[in-house]
Amino acid sequence: MAIRNLSEADFVDVLQRYLTPSSPIQRLQTLQGRQEQVKQITRAFHSPGRHVFIHGDRGVGKSSLALSVGNYLSAEGQRPIQLACNGESFFSIMRNLASQLLNAAPVKGGTATKGSLGMGAYGLSGTVEAQLAAREVPELSSLNEVVSVIRYCVDRAPEERVAIFDEFDMLPTDADRTLFADFIKQMGDQSIAIKMFFTGIGQSLESLLAAHHSCYRYLASVALSPLNWDGRLAIMDAACEALGVELDMSTKYRIGAISDGFPHYIHLICEKLFWVVFDSPEDVAQVSAQHYREAVESAVQDIEPFLRELYELATRKYNDDYQEILWAVADHHEFSRRRSDIFSSYVEIMRQRGTAAPDRTKFNTRMNALKRDSHGQILLGTRQGWYELREPILRGYIRLRAEREGVELAQDHPHQTGARPLGLFNKK
Ligand SMILES: Nc1ncnc2c1ncn2[C@@H]1O[C@H](COP(=O)(O)OP(=O)(O)O)[C@@H](O)[C@H]1O
Ligand SMILES: [Mg+2]
Repeated sequence: MAIRNLSEADFVDVLQRYLTPSSPIQRLQTLQGRQEQVKQITRAFHSPGRHVFIHGDRGVGKSSLALSVGNYLSAEGQRPIQLACNGESFFSIMRNLASQLLNAAPVKGGTATKGSLGMGAYGLSGTVEAQLAAREVPELSSLNEVVSVIRYCVDRAPEERVAIFDEFDMLPTDADRTLFADFIKQMGDQSIAIKMFFTGIGQSLESLLAAHHSCYRYLASVALSPLNWDGRLAIMDAACEALGVELDMSTKYRIGAISDGFPHYIHLICEKLFWVVFDSPEDVAQVSAQHYREAVESAVQDIEPFLRELYELATRKYNDDYQEILWAVADHHEFSRRRSDIFSSYVEIMRQRGTAAPDRTKFNTRMNALKRDSHGQILLGTRQGWYELREPILRGYIRLRAEREGVELAQDHPHQTGARPLGLFNKK
């Protein structure tokens, strides 16, 4: 017990509220750096029939944004209905939605629902209506039927509900995407009172909905970028304040730089850091460099297998030769970098390691190899001589691995990293 007089139970309680490396944020209070997007979304929902599509890289915080705003917009005691699109067909997702809406409705003969139409007004067969009245959702097989069933269920819910269709990019087929596009359009045309969020990995809505332009005007598209510096620091500050522990500016800066704006890393490193502090024998009010080193080590060990595997696949079998090249790729905030710039980073990294950098030709060969299957295609060649990581979230892990070996990447000043001016960093 080395943080004030916090018991382990109290300590864990604070950690779970403020640091959630493996689960999305649920509340606006702990959603940092997304004020603009929250405003954009709440405004979009002011127009009936309008829904929200959040897109961006894996791990930038799409589910967190949808859930936090979804919780905020839900009536008291209600939570958003979460629907995973991962591998599910359009019809099975809709059946799930209908059944969750019905199960929250008051029992038959209970208090009145909001101005529902009488039986028969939904164009559904008598059998289907009878099933729905008994809270059973039949197999659905046409779009019209889906829309009618959802309308029936929405009318019976006592309050307006929020539904989140998560990981839209994981829908199994194009046919499912087309059905969704038409569904969004019909829900809008019929002003069916439900607020829908869609999230998906992608640079644009077009990349996710392809040619289905007819539904675009029913969607507000929210492009999510990595967190800016204010957001990164706010995550750390909130946790520090709740624990009564002080984190010096340079440690915060290192954590923020490693994260590259992907909040998972901030949550993970801070969680490890506070455990180190909690476990130290003496009372700690200020985190030390040694605490930080231990936290980095433990974050590397505890990283999601998905990230570790990508890194290992790219670098194993080949001694350590490829590792420093990956570090060089991750050494700058610019997402796409010229090979010559990456080479400069590489030379500097090898200098710090006390090893001579191999000649340029050898470096080029290795850069090309990292684009191949044998190295998990960790790099993409975008234009002639330009490279980027296939999985942007990996940059944080690459930086973390280098940090563990004492190589500090991404030393560029925060002002150069697209952040808004920060008083804290204004000093030269
Ligand atoms: N705005 C934010 N403020 C604080 N933490 C965040 C924020 N957005 C995401 N996170 C954290 O980042 C991690 C990834 O977020 P998530 O919403 O699951 O990303 P995505 O759905 O884009 O893959 C989670 O640990 C989550 O708690
Ligand atoms: Mg998600």
